Amino acid sequence: MIDVLDRVAALAVAYELGDVFAAAFGAPGYDDERADTSYFATEMLPKHSERDDFKLVAARRDGRVVGFAYGFTGQLGQWWPDRVSAAVGPELTAEWIGGHFEVVELAVHPDAQGQGIGFALMTELMRGVRNRRALLTTYADDRPAPRLYRRLGWQLLVADLGWGSALYGLDTGVPSGR
Ligand SMILES: CC(C)(COP(=O)(O)OP(=O)(O)OC[C@H]1O[C@@H](n2cnc3c(N)ncnc32)[C@H](O)[C@@H]1OP(=O)(O)O)[C@@H](O)C(=O)NCCC(=O)NCCS
Repeated sequence: MIDVLDRVAALAVAYELGDVFAAAFGAPGYDDERADTSYFATEMLPKHSERDDFKLVAARRDGRVVGFAYGFTGQLGQWWPDRVSAAVGPELTAEWIGGHFEVVELAVHPDAQGQGIGFALMTELMRGVRNRRALLTTYADDRPAPRLYRRLGWQLLVADLGWGSALYGLDTGVPSGR
């Protein structure tokens, strides 16, 4: 079961989401230094939940959150778009960056991976998005996440931005979006 959560609803389950975040990104082979429940619940999510068009989708099993994905409308002048823009140069920036829907995180608890939950979460996250362009960065090497994005039609824009991340874009087909 997948629920769509707005800012208030997402913050109400911030620690549950944080536990999934920490488990997924702290797993062997990921070892992400940000893989910490309270960092996610008290810093990362509250900050991002203030952004325009914030949307979070959460998958539950037996009432417990087992996965989530979220994003918002990103703009130049924010940290991530500016960092990506500096790496890709003016042509790709003009075409893709600013007013895009930015997929920030996707995580499924290791106990629940490999059952289609990640695919379902990304499908629900992007459903109804009205931005003409969507962007995300993911691992540059071959892993479940980039394979999943490609299956959903995301195109590889830059194979390695210079810090081990690849940039993917999606043309949502919304004709008069931002
Ligand atoms: C990336 C991630 C969210 C994917 O979540 P998931 O729920 O395992 O995703 P899915 O189940 O939809 O797909 C994963 C694999 O399981 C396979 N699968 C899905 N349902 C299946 C089923 N019923 N039986 C067998 N295999 C299945 C998919 O084909 C896919 O295979 P592939 O990796 O060889 O392409 C998860 O691996 C994760 O949290 N990773 C750590 C954090 C991360 O990388 N986040 C993304 C950062 S950009």
